[in-house]
Amino acid sequence: MRDGSPGSADVAGIPTPALVVDVAAMERNIGRMAAYCAAGPCRLRPHFKAHKTPEIARRQLAGGSCTGLTCATVSEAEVAADLCRDILIANEPVGPGKCERVAALAHRVPITVAVDSAAGLDAIAAAARRAGVTVSVLVDVNVGQMRCGVEPGGDAVRLARQVASAEGVTLRGLMGYEGHLVGLPDRAEREARTRLAMAGLVETAHVCRADGLLCDVVSAGGTGTYDITGGIDGITEIQAGSYVLMDTDYGRLDVPFEQAFWVLGTVISRPDPGRCVADCGHKSMTKDHGYPAVRDLDGATVVSLNDEHATISVPPGCRIRIGDRVYLQPSHTDPTINLHDVFYALDGTRVIGVWPIAARGYPEHRGSA
Ligand SMILES: Cc1ncc(COP(=O)(O)O)c(C=O)c1O
Repeated sequence: MRDGSPGSADVAGIPTPALVVDVAAMERNIGRMAAYCAAGPCRLRPHFKAHKTPEIARRQLAGGSCTGLTCATVSEAEVAADLCRDILIANEPVGPGKCERVAALAHRVPITVAVDSAAGLDAIAAAARRAGVTVSVLVDVNVGQMRCGVEPGGDAVRLARQVASAEGVTLRGLMGYEGHLVGLPDRAEREARTRLAMAGLVETAHVCRADGLLCDVVSAGGTGTYDITGGIDGITEIQAGSYVLMDTDYGRLDVPFEQAFWVLGTVISRPDPGRCVADCGHKSMTKDHGYPAVRDLDGATVVSLNDEHATISVPPGCRIRIGDRVYLQPSHTDPTINLHDVFYALDGTRVIGVWPIAARGYPEHRGSA
């Protein structure tokens, strides 16, 4: 079984804990998002950080309606650079070696980074000049998440002007991620607050253009707001990531995407009729958005996780036995996938590929020991 190649193995032979992906469900998610974006007005720049897996990104790009890929880290971009010709690092590249690595990447592929300070701008512009390349920049605007980003309006326009006049970089537009809104359970509230947040971003883009500044890209949006932000005039692309595989947290919302991946475990103990214990714990899935859900086992719930154990409460009469498999549905896509080396790609119970999660962890440290 090699990456992407057909194999005859069955899910029963996969050592656990392991990540499994239902390829058909994933492809349906890709198709739904691509169809939404094909209808306009905006396009899709899938967030690579969700899965860090080249084979999944290739399928997202092949699905259509994409401008390129979004990355969160330079090391993700170093992997994604083999996959498409337009990479956005939707994050500020600051810290030892980061700007130099971005500049080196710009020799291979057009690359855009987020900037929210004069110091950040100076660092990337200097690295680009030293490398003899031009790096594109989006000014990162705080649309209310209160993470990175300059304030919309005057502050953002001033920074955009600085970018436009700096050597080594070129202004491409703005970005603003409404991460504080993507998970709001009430659709009406999510929609109203997203529209308000995006109005500031779109208005800032208008002011930039009126000022003669280039603003071709206005990038925003996540899985929970893809059809709100994505329908707003002036937003040119959405950065959704989780939609492709989903998790229980996004599963609460009214989004039309299916659960497509699970942590596969094996029951290693059955201490009493109301309890079984599987071999997958904190080291194979995170619980920052809650305990995972149990698939195909009515009434079963995860009641605790330890490093290598999931303790599952099962209803009276449950016949699950030692050696049986459990499929646990993670509550948070990105950090769970980051714990694993590969996805086992499934067609039903047949393993049709083993896909490296090539950008997992912090690959820049691997050669250091
Ligand atoms: C900058 C940025 N854009 C977009 C997203 C959207 O991701 P998702 O679709 O998983 O909500 C994230 C997620 O954290 C993000 O940090």
